Amino acid sequence: MTYNEKLIYYKNVVDNKLEEYFTFESKKQDRLFEAMKYSLMAGGKRIRPILTLEFASLCGGSVEAALPAACAIEMIHTFSLIHDDLPCMDNDDMRRGRKSCHRAFDEATALLAGDALELYPFEVLTDSVKYGVSPENTVKMVRLLAEYSGHMGMTGGQQIDTQFEGESIGEENLLEMYKLKTSRLLQASACMGCLSAGADDSVIQKAYEYGEKVGLAFQITDDILDVCGNSEILGKPVGSDKENNKETYVSLVGTDKAREKAKKLSDEALAVIGDFSDSEFLKELTVNLLKRNK
Ligand code: IPE
Ligand code: IPE
Ligand code: MG
Ligand code: MG
Ligand code: MG
Repeated sequence: MTYNEKLIYYKNVVDNKLEEYFTFESKKQDRLFEAMKYSLMAGGKRIRPILTLEFASLCGGSVEAALPAACAIEMIHTFSLIHDDLPCMDNDDMRRGRKSCHRAFDEATALLAGDALELYPFEVLTDSVKYGVSPENTVKMVRLLAEYSGHMGMTGGQQIDTQFEGESIGEENLLEMYKLKTSRLLQASACMGCLSAGADDSVIQKAYEYGEKVGLAFQITDDILDVCGNSEILGKPVGSDKENNKETYVSLVGTDKAREKAKKLSDEALAVIGDFSDSEFLKELTVNLLKRNK
């Protein structure tokens, strides 16, 4: 398979499995189901589940066994986006090329859709056992996903992000915040892929290091796109960070230096996976994440 064929293949298996997980019988809370599905199926890039599937494959595992984890991480990510857009957070009206959840529905429904998309993943993850992942590794995935999403991970990073609006926190603290709000979910993606394939600790450590670097590069690129991007292509507003008086890597050092930093981090990520065999796809994906315009 060429790089693009593999990318499309991964996206399709993820989307099909998500559809399967989101086929609900009609209930009184249909509006909640609709809001969850509205944001989840709006067509994100699916970078996180793709990482899960690819790390699983690099570790000799199967797509089938990694799919519950891949779907779980995409749900957690979507929950983070729904809440991130709320008026009390970034107050953004567009996401994934459509109205953000609270605009299409209402704030209470968006809040609850986020909550539900934070919890359903743990139900889904337990499915891993059905596809041959050991109970021990399934428990490890549950713990990892909870830790990297919660107060010590993404949610913790979002707290620091909102708390320091209008203030300068400096480069070192900013990068620490990015590790939490963005790297942790990418790390969870990569590490869960390894765990689903029964990889040993040394490989999981590499996935951890790779995810941290790629996550930092990813967030810096996101900051650049918030200044230089096109909202039609991005599917979300540009200028949101400035509007919210957020210090970003771009506001701190300028676009050129930010690009250099993202490239350096991306190269470091490539070095981490340098000795993996059959890693051409992952390397190409890593490079392409820097060049993205959405
Ligand atoms: C956006 O993530 C939030 C950040 C961590 C920067 P993505 O750029 O992966 O968003 P989708 O999933 O493609 O919509
Ligand atoms: C988002 O950072 C990180 C999350 C955990 C959602 P941003 O606030 O910059 O993400 P976008 O630009 O809204 O996608
Ligand atoms: Mg934000
Ligand atoms: Mg935002
Ligand atoms: Mg942003």
